[in-house]
Amino acid sequence: MADIELEFFLNGEPVKVNVNPATSLLTVLRDYLGLTGTKKGCGRGECGACTVILDGQAVNSCLLPAVKVRGRRVETIEGLARGEQLHPLQQAFIKAGAVQCGFCTPGMIMAAKALLDHNPRPTRDEIKEAISGNICRCTGYVKIEEAIMQAARGTGGIKNEGCC
Ligand code: FES
Ligand code: FES
Repeated sequence: MADIELEFFLNGEPVKVNVNPATSLLTVLRDYLGLTGTKKGCGRGECGACTVILDGQAVNSCLLPAVKVRGRRVETIEGLARGEQLHPLQQAFIKAGAVQCGFCTPGMIMAAKALLDHNPRPTRDEIKEAISGNICRCTGYVKIEEAIMQAARGTGGIKNEGCC
């Protein structure tokens, strides 16, 4: 199948890339654009390691054909920090001890950011629901939930803190 030109907004910046129409967004991010912060775990929508934010919603980028993001806004873990200044969620994950191997962390943080952007004061149950598609083999989830609670409490909500 011939490549097609794909344009979208990535972490607030316009990008243009030639892709095979069958390519997933995950592959475009990692292999075409070099943004390896988004992880590949299962590759079939079960682990959440590949979670990014598309027009404000957390999505599994491994299941999403890249052509579906044409003209849309994609946010990845690379878009969160401002230079040396980590995003409040990143700070909270470190402070709460919510990172062990770290493989799940980018997806967890993106799922959490999508939640807090819409609901700056979530309950623990709402947090559990938001990260229910994200598997962590290391932490037991409690510290991750605590980190998201801390980020929500500490910032008064993080809406519009990101680029897009
Ligand atoms: S790699 Fe996408 S859900 Fe597991
Ligand atoms: S910290 Fe290892 S999978 Fe979550």
